[in-house]
Amino acid sequence: MDGNRRWAKNKSLPRSEGHRRGAEVIEPLMDAAMDLGIKVVSLYAFSTENWMRPRTEIASLWKLLDYFFKAKIDVITSKGVRIKHSGLDAMLPASTYETIARAVDATRHNRRLILNFCVNYGGQQEIVHAVNSWLETRKGGEKISTGKLERNLFTAELPPVDLMIRTGGECRISNFLIWQIAYAELLFMDVLWPDFSPRHFYKSIYDYQQRERRFGGI
Ligand code: FPP
Repeated sequence: MDGNRRWAKNKSLPRSEGHRRGAEVIEPLMDAAMDLGIKVVSLYAFSTENWMRPRTEIASLWKLLDYFFKAKIDVITSKGVRIKHSGLDAMLPASTYETIARAVDATRHNRRLILNFCVNYGGQQEIVHAVNSWLETRKGGEKISTGKLERNLFTAELPPVDLMIRTGGECRISNFLIWQIAYAELLFMDVLWPDFSPRHFYKSIYDYQQRERRFGGI
């Protein structure tokens, strides 16, 4: 969800306003995903590297996240959406941790769509975390495998990523789901996240449908 700050700067608004408008994009996107029968959407909301941002910006993001879940939990629940969190719990402010945990718990039986919030998430950190989790169960000289590693990722129950969309015009991955995108189709869009509309989403799915996926085969 890249481009919030540039969107705000272009409009001479504070950064927090860019993030606020960015959060407003989530519900229409969720509806469009359900309309298309998509089962999992992962959102990169806060990376392990985002701690390098100014404290005030970080604080406004936690406040926004708290507000978002409090304001939207009823509609999320009634629409059959399950909230999942991928990321490290450590370092999250207690109130943010509790807000996320409550949303995860309240929606745990929902099946229509999984909305996977990647908060305090880094792909490299996730892999290290997975290896350490596996080591705790390791027996004798057992070796790790791709399957064993996958079962210890935050996303263990999720399918591999089919399509990764990055808004904001930058063409990089920025430590997002680096294991899970091994064979994903990548789409870099020159639209700032607060301007990302269901129309852009439908267009990106159409673009995805034109791709030929070979997964290393012929
Ligand atoms: C990247 O844009 C965006 C973020 C670091 C935060 C993304 C967060 C939201 C969209 C709001 C999340 C809200 C909820 C409820 C989870 P940037 O700030 O790096 O923008 P830039 O590329 O223009 O600098």
